[in-house]
Amino acid sequence: MKKIIIAIDGPAASGKSSTAKLVAATLGYLHIDTGAMYRAMALKILRSKVDPNDTVKISALATRTSVRLALREGKIRVVLDGEEVSGEIRLPEVTNIVSPISTVSDVRKLMVHEQRAMGREGGIVLEGRDIGSVVFPNAELKIFMVADARERAVRRRKELGTKGVEISVEELEKEILERDRIDSGRSVSPLLKADDAIELDTTNLSIEEQVEFIVEKARKIIEQ
Ligand code: DC
Repeated sequence: MKKIIIAIDGPAASGKSSTAKLVAATLGYLHIDTGAMYRAMALKILRSKVDPNDTVKISALATRTSVRLALREGKIRVVLDGEEVSGEIRLPEVTNIVSPISTVSDVRKLMVHEQRAMGREGGIVLEGRDIGSVVFPNAELKIFMVADARERAVRRRKELGTKGVEISVEELEKEILERDRIDSGRSVSPLLKADDAIELDTTNLSIEEQVEFIVEKARKIIEQ
């Protein structure tokens, strides 16, 4: 059976993670959340007390950093310099600085290198901002997920609520729009829909519908 690469890109909180996870589980594929890798780097910057806009210091730090994704007890864990940080990388303090940090080209080089190594064999679903455009431009299936900003804020609020973090929808919408602006406007690998990506607007779709849409497209390619 052919093992393909599925690239799922899209703006913050567009539903990529939950969808990618279920698509991977349905197909028996590995799921790689590349945003988690940028978050791990942001956590390192936060802990090192380096200014998140100091690109020179961030570049230097990136060359001395290891960010890995490891499969433990059936779950992918984010490992920063040997330490598991899967929970900590979701903290709002990390979210607040991750976009400027991911504009630094040395940080991107480090992450893209790791991602390509993990995806080489296929049988993988990678989600992020630049998977279909930069990391795997030859991916067999590319999906670009979009959703209304207010709907994305509502979803993010629900997700944070389950972790005991209370933030208003208005505040989250503002933060999401700001991240969209930085992610789309940066000069290195900006968030953009690859020409051959299929756009999927999830504003009015259930998670099951999103998963079904992608799995059906993937199966057609796998069985070709
Ligand atoms: O998917 P997320 O919200 O966890 O991603 C966090 C940040 O990481 C996002 O604001 C931009 C950056 N990112 C990126 O630049 N490229 C990727 N492939 C994935 C994420």
